[in-house]
Amino acid sequence: MNTLDAIKARHSTRGFSDRQISDADLDAILFAGGQAAVGGGAFKSLKLIAVQDAELLKAIDEASAKNRPGSHPLYGAPTLVVLASTKGFLENIEWTNAGCVIQNMMVAAADLGIDSIYLWMAMYGINGEPELVKRLGIPEGMTCVGTAAFGYAAQEFKKPGADDQRIEVSYIK
Ligand SMILES: Cc1cc2nc3c(=O)[nH]c(=O)nc-3n(C[C@H](O)[C@H](O)[C@H](O)COP(=O)(O)O)c2cc1C
Repeated sequence: MNTLDAIKARHSTRGFSDRQISDADLDAILFAGGQAAVGGGAFKSLKLIAVQDAELLKAIDEASAKNRPGSHPLYGAPTLVVLASTKGFLENIEWTNAGCVIQNMMVAAADLGIDSIYLWMAMYGINGEPELVKRLGIPEGMTCVGTAAFGYAAQEFKKPGADDQRIEVSYIK
């Protein structure tokens, strides 16, 4: 797949099957995360944690659903990648780093035929529960700054706006 096709193939999946992604694909996705642009090249300010343990995923799902009981903010995904970061050396730069790392992973996943979704809600779930932070091995001084779920969609779904320019553009030539 060429890069533009992978970018178009990436759209949010909100219902995953139980089928797990292969270890080789997981490593390729994590590698893509590590190739992201990161402000000041501060790669040591970040940590990627790949979670495939069903019990831990359930605990994160439950913690993330606190404000919407009965919901499943992880959408049944069999893999969750948690991105942790220290506070950025420039104000808020960790949030931009997170976007770059997570987008790289999702586009790489799309290239491999793997579905994904960026999950902000899971970040709240994790940071709100010190026990989860501990179980995830998030180092002292770091917090979760984003997560993304990976797997295979339970059903075919229409990818919204895959052929549209969704952001207003102006040209100044
Ligand atoms: C920073 C960020 C956080 C997001 N958090 C969530 C989330 O917690 N739950 C969810 O269902 N979708 C979440 N999304 C997915 C967006 O809703 C989705 O990307 C957007 O509607 C565009 O659709 P598409 O990804 O299918 O192109 C998030 C996306 C981004 C970029």
